[in-house]
Amino acid sequence: MSSSMLEVLESNRSQLSSALDPQAKVANGQFLTPSTIAAAMADMFSVPLPNEIVLLDPGAGSGILTIAFLERVARQSQAVARVKVFAYENDDFLARLLESNLHNAAVGLIDQGIELTYNVLREDFILSASRSLVPPLLDALKELPSFTHVIMNPPYHKLSSGSDQRTCLERAGIQTSNLYSAFVALALPLLREGGELVAITPRSFCNGPYFRPFRRHLLDAASFERIHVFERRDDAFSEDKVLQENIIFHLRKSRPQRRVELSSSLGRSLESSTTRLVPHESIVQDGDPDLVIRIPSNESDDYVLERMTAFTNRLHDLGLQVSTGPVVDFRLRRHILDQPDRDSVPLIYSAHFVDQHVEWPIESAKKPNAIACNERTRRWLYPNSCYVLTRRFSSKEEKRRIYPALFSPIEDYDWIGFENHVNVVKSPDNDLYPTTAFGMVSYLSSKIVDLFFRQFSGHTQVNAADLRLLPVPPSSTLSELANYFDGKKVDTQAVDAHLEYLFKIKYGITSPNPAG
Ligand SMILES: C[S@@+](CC[C@H](N)C(=O)[O-])C[C@H]1O[C@@H](n2cnc3c(N)ncnc32)[C@H](O)[C@@H]1O
Repeated sequence: MSSSMLEVLESNRSQLSSALDPQAKVANGQFLTPSTIAAAMADMFSVPLPNEIVLLDPGAGSGILTIAFLERVARQSQAVARVKVFAYENDDFLARLLESNLHNAAVGLIDQGIELTYNVLREDFILSASRSLVPPLLDALKELPSFTHVIMNPPYHKLSSGSDQRTCLERAGIQTSNLYSAFVALALPLLREGGELVAITPRSFCNGPYFRPFRRHLLDAASFERIHVFERRDDAFSEDKVLQENIIFHLRKSRPQRRVELSSSLGRSLESSTTRLVPHESIVQDGDPDLVIRIPSNESDDYVLERMTAFTNRLHDLGLQVSTGPVVDFRLRRHILDQPDRDSVPLIYSAHFVDQHVEWPIESAKKPNAIACNERTRRWLYPNSCYVLTRRFSSKEEKRRIYPALFSPIEDYDWIGFENHVNVVKSPDNDLYPTTAFGMVSYLSSKIVDLFFRQFSGHTQVNAADLRLLPVPPSSTLSELANYFDGKKVDTQAVDAHLEYLFKIKYGITSPNPAG
């Protein structure tokens, strides 16, 4: 097969991408893989390749991943005699292109003595694969072989509850709410024991309660061989302005989990990436009920993890709760006011955060300042007391991921509204002890918390669930850290130095920071 086929697909890719109907593009997640990434993904499968390969490419688009895989096969043609490809694509236009590309590939491979047969399945992969796994329909399994290899760039968007896809998945025993995780979850039972899967997906499945059942399913069935992280969110799909953080992972359907190769790169080329081998426990901590998948892709990450695991408390152990700000402004639009009047109370957005405290009201009127206090709104309001707030959205390109702010009671009000884009740390009786609040704001402002959070967060949200999982120091340490916060601004350098001193003296952790 001519090695230029991938190049041809690459040169047609942006034309193809702009020819796609923009609405269908978003609805079907048609973000096409660049050839450098496709080739790097194909190279991840282990050597030697078996004599007979059965490859699945669900959501194949024009087939760039399969073509990259076949080019790799062609480079090692002495090992492989036969390849059977099953490529699912439910968009007719792309399926026709896929058919023609696979035909050309088959012709090219004949010269190398490799027999390629292919099936282009113009079907919904979710419906087809999940039905093939449900007992009364098990006969359909005969139509699908067990695969030696799976390569995929699955579409992603939320699966609405009650949709056919969701119902079929549930019948097949798969609980997940996103297309991409459904694709991976379905591919795993179709893979034969020892078989391999390489996928490029959003990183969002690595943490958070929604993806927990998916993580359970994945970790029960397979082991990570490699995880690659793109340092910048737009590295993989810059033309399509996709700002999801993406990762590539290579799984083997076998247990137990052993060592995992971690790599990261700037830009699309994986060649210049930094690589390290870590034990599986560095990815998923033993006994972690949430099965959070961390990606400590450089040595500084070990430095952070070693320190943070010294803190065994969670907010709950300190008697603290965390919730999402309950006021959803567009649902209560009639009750929201730019400036307070006699019958309203303060409404706090993250726009009210200044340094590490809340300033209210703000004059700029970028955000409203008040919410009416009446029968309709009262259930969404909190007593006017002391709270620690954090912003719910921040991106990895920002200076920090966690933005805390102290909320101190505002005179003359009984109630306060917290808008939905902030998280609220509180005590159950809404009477947070000020020293704890001050210490918590200092702690959440520290460098080590920021670095720790970056290890597992793959999206722009900082959810209440993430804060519940954050290791926190004991109350006595929070009291010490409170001294570095004057109620307005935290002396973060002093907090970092104090924590480092504690790790050394109290916990015996002295490993140097590789970042200097
Ligand atoms: C992210 S694109 C990737 C395309 C191609 N594999 C690549 O890497 O360039 C996902 C593809 O899946 C297709 N697709 C979306 N939903 C599908 C479904 N339920 N069943 C089969 N294909 C689907 C889309 O039309 C799109 O071509």
